[in-house]
Amino acid sequence: MDFRTRIERALERALALADDHTPPKLVAALRHAVFPGGARIRPQLCLAVAGACGDDDPALAEAAAAAIELLHCASLVHDDLPCFDDAATRRGRPSVHKAYGERLAVLGGDALIVLSFQVLALAAAGHPRRLSPLVCSIGASAGLPVGIVAGQAWECEPRVALLEYQRQKTGSLFVAATVAGAQAAGADPTPWRRLGEALGEAYQIADDIRDVAADPAQLGKPVGQDKALGRPNACAELGFGPAVRYFDRLMDEAVAAIPECPGAEQFRALVQAESARLVPAELARLAA
Ligand code: IPE
Ligand code: IPE
Ligand code: MG
Ligand code: MG
Repeated sequence: MDFRTRIERALERALALADDHTPPKLVAALRHAVFPGGARIRPQLCLAVAGACGDDDPALAEAAAAAIELLHCASLVHDDLPCFDDAATRRGRPSVHKAYGERLAVLGGDALIVLSFQVLALAAAGHPRRLSPLVCSIGASAGLPVGIVAGQAWECEPRVALLEYQRQKTGSLFVAATVAGAQAAGADPTPWRRLGEALGEAYQIADDIRDVAADPAQLGKPVGQDKALGRPNACAELGFGPAVRYFDRLMDEAVAAIPECPGAEQFRALVQAESARLVPAELARLAA
């Protein structure tokens, strides 16, 4: 079964934890937040690392991948709220608070965060010793000291260091994706950390580039948000050309960070393809 199918099934299993007793509008808001997905890049990365490490417990790897994607979806629901980025669209559709109201967007994001850890705990029966490291790495990426919550909270400080902010709000979940992929397969996660760090940092730089230069219809979410909201943006701080070159360098580092493993060549091709998707040639040309 391919990664995308495994991920969609794992997410369906996760949302099936809501039942007939769960308020129907909350269930609808949760489904709106999770389906249809975006790139599903983080769970694909998690499954790819688990595969490279032998994937001896596919159900646990799928749960880790789903947990990470649920946290990502929760972060988007909360990030779009009026008190954060006040974004009306996400993935080409109304954002969750636009479709279901702010109260269900707050509660829906909360429910997805909790669900993420329920899913992990339920899947760890076969390898209970793997649960604690998984909860620690995935928890750190979502919360403290340097996870998504910490990253978003930098927006409430008078001064923000761009790279620190980006590593926390975005990079952390990519690190969790590679680390948890290895942990779910019972492998040492250390060799996989750098890949997550480089990809995660590159990913937010690409998001900043697209916020400045992409077409909102193609992107499915508003552009120009960073400038309008006074958010740190790599293009504003470094300049457009240097930001694109920094992105290229980080993607090269990501490719170089892939440890020698079965399927390493395929892995490298995946990262290279992602690079072209994130900053397409027509955007890169603007930097020349
Ligand atoms: C958007 O992430 C938010 C960032 C951290 C840049 P994605 O671009 O991965 O969003 P989806 O899941 O594909 O919609
Ligand atoms: C997203 O940062 C990081 C999150 C933790 C959600 P942005 O605010 O730049 O992402 P988009 O552009 O809304 O997807
Ligand atoms: Mg934001
Ligand atoms: Mg935003």
